[in-house]
This record gives sequence, C-alpha cells and structure tokens, in this order.
Amino acid sequence: MIQPLRGMKDLTFDDSQRFVHIVNTAVEIASRYGYGYIETPILEETALFKRSVGDSSDIVSKEMYQFEDKGGNDVCMRPEGTAGVVRAFVHAKLDRQPSKQKFYYYGPMFRYERPQKGRLREFHQFGCESFGEASVAEDFTIITMISQIFEALGIGFDLQINSLGCTACMPPYKQKLVTFLTSDKEALCEDCNRRIDSNPIRVLDCKNKTCQSLLVNAPKLIPCLCEECASDFTQLTALLDKAKIPYHIDTHLVRGLDYYNKTAFEFVSNHIGAQSAIAGGGRYDTLVEFLDGKSTPAVGFALGIERIMELVVMPESERKGIYLGAMDSDALDSLFAIATQKRKSTKVTHEYSKKSFKSHLKGAEKSQAKYLVLRGEDELANGTIWIKNLETREEKTVLVGEF
Ligand code: HAM
Repeated sequence: MIQPLRGMKDLTFDDSQRFVHIVNTAVEIASRYGYGYIETPILEETALFKRSVGDSSDIVSKEMYQFEDKGGNDVCMRPEGTAGVVRAFVHAKLDRQPSKQKFYYYGPMFRYERPQKGRLREFHQFGCESFGEASVAEDFTIITMISQIFEALGIGFDLQINSLGCTACMPPYKQKLVTFLTSDKEALCEDCNRRIDSNPIRVLDCKNKTCQSLLVNAPKLIPCLCEECASDFTQLTALLDKAKIPYHIDTHLVRGLDYYNKTAFEFVSNHIGAQSAIAGGGRYDTLVEFLDGKSTPAVGFALGIERIMELVVMPESERKGIYLGAMDSDALDSLFAIATQKRKSTKVTHEYSKKSFKSHLKGAEKSQAKYLVLRGEDELANGTIWIKNLETREEKTVLVGEF
C-alpha cells in the first residue's frame, strides 16, 4: 500500500470538517475587515523566496522543496504565502494604485522540516496581507482580527509582541549584538556562530539551552529603537491595553523570516506541545520595493490550520435537509425528480434502493437529516409523500406537488 510522504497527511472525516470550519470562520471575519480572496501559484521561482524570506533563514537554507523543472528553471514549492502575494501585487501593478489593498488566502505550504507533533512538511495556512497603510493602527487592527478569529473558534491564546525596528535603528542594534555575541562565541552553538555573520538577530530565538542562558544578558532591541519606531510600539501597546487584549512583550521574538520591520507578533497556545505558535506575522514595509515594486507599506499574518485543528471547539452540528427513500421498488424512479427539485434549496441524501422503514430511519440519522421523507405503495397510488420531522417527531402526508 502506498503511504503518504513523511510529514504529509490526508484530511478526512472529522479532520476535514474542522479544516472547513476554521477556513470558513477566518474567511467570514477577514471579509468583514475588507479582505478579498487572492490565489497565487504553489510553485514559484526559487529566487522569490531567497530574496524575500532571506537566504540565511532556516526556511530557505534548509527547508525548501526546490528542484529544476523540465525547462531547466530553478523552482520551489512555496514555504509560505506572503512572498507570492507580494509578487502578484507587483505583477498586477497594484503598487501603482493609490488605494489600499487587502487580500486573504489559504492553502498548502511546504517546508522540509523534521516532522513532529504540530510540525508537518505539508501544512496549511490561512493568511492576510494588507498593503498601503503605514499606520500602526493597521497592525493593531490585524491583531484584533486574529483575536476575533480565535474567539470565534473557541481558542485561548497568549499574544507575544516585539518591534524589529527599521533601517535606521536595526543596523546599530545588530552591531551592538554582534559585539556581545562575539565575546562569547565559543559557548554558542554551531548554528548561532553561523548566524553571527549572516543574521545575528536570529541568535535571539535559538532554542539551545546554553545559548538561551547566555542571551539573558544580551542587549535588548526595544531600548535601542529610534524615535519613530519607539513611538509606534508605544502606540500599539496603548491600543492593545485600551482594547483589553492581553499581550507579552518578548524582546527575543524575531520571527523566522527576514522581511519584517517594526511590529512583529506571534499567537501561542500552551495546549499543543512544543510547536506552540498558532499564528504569526508583522509589518514588512520594504518587501514590495525589494521585489521591484513601488515602495508600499504592508502588514500581514498567517495562522497554521493543522495546529488550530487540535484546539478548535466545533459548534454542535445541526440537522439539515432531507433524507429521501422508497419502501416500494415502484416508487424508486419517482424520487429522482423530487431530489433534483429539492436540491435547488436544501441538502438531500437520496437512497437509491428500496429499504425497510427501520433502515431508512437509520440512514436519516446517519446523514443528520432534519426530515425523513419516504414513498411507499400507498403514497405512489395517491400521488403523495410521507414526511417526518426528526426534531419535533411530527409526521404528515402531503401531495407531491405541495412538497
Ligand atoms: P510563519 O510564522 O512561518 O509565518 O507561519 C505561520 C504559522 O504557520 C505558524 O504560526 C504555524 O502555526 C504554522 N506553521 C509554520 N510551519 C509549520 C509546520 N511545519 N507545520 C505546521 N504548521 C506550521 C509565515 O509563514 C508568514 N508568511 C506570515 C506572515 C504573513 N507574515 C506577514 N504576512
């Protein structure tokens, strides 16, 4: 029997219902905030992710599903959604339009990571990207929207925020950090030694215990922010305080992708094990220009659908539609027209073979139908149909034309 690949999963039955419920809830709420659907290809030029997510990130340096296609092009299965949306935004010349643009998307992402609970090689994200709004008010609004999505799904979370500064305050901070890290170079892990040269702030979220204990005394970014970044961060915390959205400031939150500046955030759950981030995002004001577009401020996030599937509280499923069957072979043919007609407005479970009343009742229960609708010898002779409301247990017989 052929198995799915390691780190990849089929979604069936209960899981697929959870998946659809999460997507539908997120789509509904994102639409209320003015987001419209965007679909971009799963396969992109590898250069797109190298330039946006960053050459030095784990995602690009270790985890890409990268290969040469039959035409000799260096291509890659998307490891995340933002880069593709920004490429599409620039490609459609939306960066030349004065209006603000907001997009949502959902679909599979691919990262060749070591699979474990909550960490897959093919996983699904729901994400939003908002272009053209430079204000920190938009960062707050996005955080509010994610909180509302989690509230609607019955999920508790811990919100962690940080500021990653800008091109004015980040480089001098990096310099300070490099000086600090270099003094303890030998004690840091191999990965961190590499990061000192390639991207020193990534050292801050190293999971190695020795590195973490050394980093307790590392210089913090927030006191080094320039006036504008500091004021934005204060405004963000003030808005969150006012809205009573609880948060923690985590000065070591740097995110695994290189395109962020200023606001960075993660939503974490402590009920799903080590892979606890259920959503992450932030501001990326330089990425559009970096991908050859006109400078456009932007902010966005993505949530991990599989991780949320572990937590979601499903609403009670309601009985819906009709179960349609016959207790006499001669009545079977007459059901097709009735099923087609009824399917214009409701869900119909149509049983094609003649069955006993008991079997039909079982079928109606299994399909969670609201009405059990049957035709037997008498109904066929009288041009009628028998209906039982399975919620109120009320029964009646009506003319087919009236049904
Ligand atoms: P990210 O933090 O890499 O951000 O991923 C977002 C979410 O995807 C994570 O919080 C997690 O729930 C889920 N996730 C990531 N990797 C895996 C995995 N291997 N298995 C299962 N779930 C996973 C981004 O991807 C950014 N594009 C978010 C963003 C949008 N920033 C701005 N706009």
